[in-house]
Amino acid sequence: MVKNIAVIRGDGIGPEIVEQALRVLDRVAELYGHTFNYTDVDMGGCAIDKYGDPLPEHELQKCVNSDSVLLGAVGGNKWNDVPGHMRPEKGLLRLRAGMGVYSNNRPAKIWKQLSSASPLKKEIVDKGIDFIIVRELIGGIYFGEHKTEGDVATDVLTYSESEIERIGRIGFETAQKRNKKLCSVEKSNVLDSSRLWKKVMHRLAEEYPDVELSDMLVDNCAMQIVKNPAQFDVIVTENMFGDILSDEASMITGSIGMIPSSSLGSTTCGLYEPIHGSAPDIAGKDVANPIGTILSAAMMLRFSFDMSKEAETIENAVSAYLDAGYRTADIMSEGGKLVGCKRCGELIIEKLRKG
Ligand code: IPM
Ligand code: MG
Repeated sequence: MVKNIAVIRGDGIGPEIVEQALRVLDRVAELYGHTFNYTDVDMGGCAIDKYGDPLPEHELQKCVNSDSVLLGAVGGNKWNDVPGHMRPEKGLLRLRAGMGVYSNNRPAKIWKQLSSASPLKKEIVDKGIDFIIVRELIGGIYFGEHKTEGDVATDVLTYSESEIERIGRIGFETAQKRNKKLCSVEKSNVLDSSRLWKKVMHRLAEEYPDVELSDMLVDNCAMQIVKNPAQFDVIVTENMFGDILSDEASMITGSIGMIPSSSLGSTTCGLYEPIHGSAPDIAGKDVANPIGTILSAAMMLRFSFDMSKEAETIENAVSAYLDAGYRTADIMSEGGKLVGCKRCGELIIEKLRKG
């Protein structure tokens, strides 16, 4: 198959981690006889420097017209003082909205090889950590009105029933393919938008009788994720709660550097990115962990290109790499053979075997 992939290297460690993911994709293409064409897209701080805009329309169009988008990370201290509507992160939000990718899937799964890298007690980790956060990605407070007038700043949080319903369905469908447990997370003791969220989830539940729906307040959920993560199968939640909970969930699996994500809307053209940021402090030092991006590329193969075997080939290679004891600095806590970003990519490529 021939696929056209828009590639956003971005800022900070973005270029170096994306480079490794592309090398892995190239090798997979060779093994399975596919052709992946890459189109570079400028987004984030680098686009501000080049065009004075974090995502000019012509760059967004390259993404919309691609078969899927692979993204490293954007942002950095250099652009901290630019006005809010021009920040690098604004490019990312515009991209998500422009592509219409309302459903963000963030797995929290502990690799058996990394169980001692989790900050949780062994008896909690041993019960298992394997759940998915389905995060609404193009609504809520991120996309409400933002304004500062004098000494008062305002950010507006709005959700419509239809926005909640479409992400709710993804939550139920994701649970149907797993252990059939869906936990809807909100703050219905305080927020109107959360009360609407809960109402819509319960209405939808009638259409998915095979899925067991539970409700949880977001503050309690933050606690339960560290107290008893084994209770979760699929969590569905709104944009900002999902942002916060997915960082927490990634940490209990050992490292945020390992976690990929997929974002999809109503077409197969998806956005694939690691959930970590651009880590400017370690940029260009060849120490970043490229696995989150490499696994995001695997998700792209599975969810957008229907190439499950190829995706598994990548996931198995990552597992074999970890089995062999190699570790980037972020997951070195319990020892291992220290490798840099580039070497990590090379070793994973060496372990790629056609399934
Ligand atoms: C994420 C990031 C982004 C978000 C930032 C960079 C805008 O934290 O993907 O989780 O908040 O969505
Ligand atoms: Mg985040």
